[in-house]
Amino acid sequence: MDHIALSAAADPESEIAAYLKQHEHKSLLRFITCGSVDDGKSTLIGRLLHDSLQLFDDQLAALETDSRKHGTQGEAIDFALLVDGLSAEREQGITIDVAYRYFSTERRKFIVADCPGHEQYTRNMATGASTADLAVVLIDARKGVLTQTRRHSYIVALLGVRQVILAVNKMDMVDYRQSVFETIAEEYRALAEQLGIASVHCVPMSALNGDNVMHGSTTMPWYSGAPLLELLEQADSDRAEQDLGLRMPVQWVNRPDSHFRGYAGTLVSGEVQPGMEIVALPSGARSRVARIVSADGDLSRAGAGQAVTLTLRDEIDISRGDVIAAARSPSEVADQFAVHLLWMGDEPLLPGRPYWLKQGSRSVSAQIGEIKHKVDVNTQQHLAAKRLELNEVGYCNISLGAPIAFERYADNRALGGFILIDRQSNATVACGTIDFALRRASNVHRQRLSIDRAARAAIKGQQPRCLWFTGLSGSGKSTIANLVDRRLHGAGYHTYLLDGDNVRHGLNKDLGFTPEDRVENIRRIAEVAKLMTDAGLIVLVSFISPYRSERDLARSLFAPGEFLEIFVDTPLEVCEQRDVKGLYARARAGLIPNFTGIDAPYEEPENPELHLRSAEAPVEELAEQVLRALEVEQ
Ligand code: ADX
Repeated sequence: MDHIALSAAADPESEIAAYLKQHEHKSLLRFITCGSVDDGKSTLIGRLLHDSLQLFDDQLAALETDSRKHGTQGEAIDFALLVDGLSAEREQGITIDVAYRYFSTERRKFIVADCPGHEQYTRNMATGASTADLAVVLIDARKGVLTQTRRHSYIVALLGVRQVILAVNKMDMVDYRQSVFETIAEEYRALAEQLGIASVHCVPMSALNGDNVMHGSTTMPWYSGAPLLELLEQADSDRAEQDLGLRMPVQWVNRPDSHFRGYAGTLVSGEVQPGMEIVALPSGARSRVARIVSADGDLSRAGAGQAVTLTLRDEIDISRGDVIAAARSPSEVADQFAVHLLWMGDEPLLPGRPYWLKQGSRSVSAQIGEIKHKVDVNTQQHLAAKRLELNEVGYCNISLGAPIAFERYADNRALGGFILIDRQSNATVACGTIDFALRRASNVHRQRLSIDRAARAAIKGQQPRCLWFTGLSGSGKSTIANLVDRRLHGAGYHTYLLDGDNVRHGLNKDLGFTPEDRVENIRRIAEVAKLMTDAGLIVLVSFISPYRSERDLARSLFAPGEFLEIFVDTPLEVCEQRDVKGLYARARAGLIPNFTGIDAPYEEPENPELHLRSAEAPVEELAEQVLRALEVEQ
């Protein structure tokens, strides 16, 4: 048995690379461990590392000292400490973030992602699962299958892991009773079948005592199966991904000088040879491979998993995030999909809100159109939903700002998986998998109009604009917008004023004031305003529009300079004093829930084109400021 490389993985990718090189000849199994808090995951991994392998002496010595200081096992070694590497974590008594451990036996090498069991760390679990061949799901024999077990198993299945070892741990606490184990195993097998997890092995175990971890155990003679380590050694490490033909997402365009242009990336499927015909996606441009450049010189062939730089015979336009695919069997390209989503944001998912979608190194803007259902992880039932909260999973339609090359996640993880990023905070808020492309997108073509927006504007003798007034209820938005409208109209301009209170009586009368309804309210109005500017109008929009995201969405629909965000900044106290409609009084009395400024947020603009302090100047002067910013003749 060779020694182990035990590491807390400060830089997982480079350490993984170094580790793999060392054990090149052995097959690799990537697995994750998951379970609820206190199921004994850390103890199990520590036990695996300790029992199956030789620990370096100094590590063992450190462990013994630490066990005495922090351990929960008296004088015995606390294996959990081996895994709960960081001291800050130890002090809190919990494990955070994913920790990758590497070890090997004579037969095989392993990378294990240790994923914390706390609900709020589901995102770490998803990270670990997305590259795993197998999951070890831990259960405390005293507690049985919990909601968390079901959630984790759902995520594991969603992310394409098809093999599970159910470790029914802490058997020592239930007197090693076979009936306890059988009941849990039966319940879990039923769950796994529902989830489409093809292979399940259930092992009764005591990680603390080492029963059935590395060796069989005399304490449970009724169990005739293999211990955990043996199952790990025998597991299938082939993720059975389909060979779709060449797929190489371009991570980087290498142009050191004008003579060399190479496209660097890792093949996620298929193989490549010089002379092969390729197509760049989404553009569809074709060429042939000239050279396959690698760190070890030019290659005559490269296959899935290899990182290379390709040069092409023709100069075609390929940028970071594009996919180089076999011309004979290219990926499809689409901009609307049905997807599974695991929501990991603290703020809920709101349909209509713009997010960034990141697929490998490609980022495009994305909106969830409709949540078809969310899933109750306990019962697998599909429930109606208008939003997804932290840790909820759902099935949705998504539409992107630009088409991407993709594969179904079931066929290829790299081209079928993605994450969503919040545009305001830059936080990762979801991970998702592509189920299929929606044909409705590709079957609807844009109709070319013979009269374009420039022609429509020219006949009106004006430049179309969108003046977007935002601010609290009672801030004076509508009054100012109305005055600006009158002035413009008087000077012969073609305008229209879209006002929240009015539009909510017609087009948007189906919407209320929940966050999801407000997002939809603004999305629709932004689109309407866009159509109106296409018609050549100067359109004034007066909506509270409390969220930055949706104001940014509106802005993104217009050409630079066409959209003016006008922040009507009036302190809440002043709005409340004015209380023209008597709404603040009612909101304070608890009669209007979700009232902006009272119990619903207003996110102030950060860089508005105009900042009007309405409490400090008469409306005429404020209207004047708007007209000056517009630079129109009066
Ligand atoms: S927005 O937040 O979705 O942009 P919008 O501008 O359409 O709101 O509508 C705001 C108007 O609806 C307010 O001026 C007020 O008259 C009325 N209103 C009724 N309920 C609420 C509420 N809960 N919060 C804010 N405004 C409300």
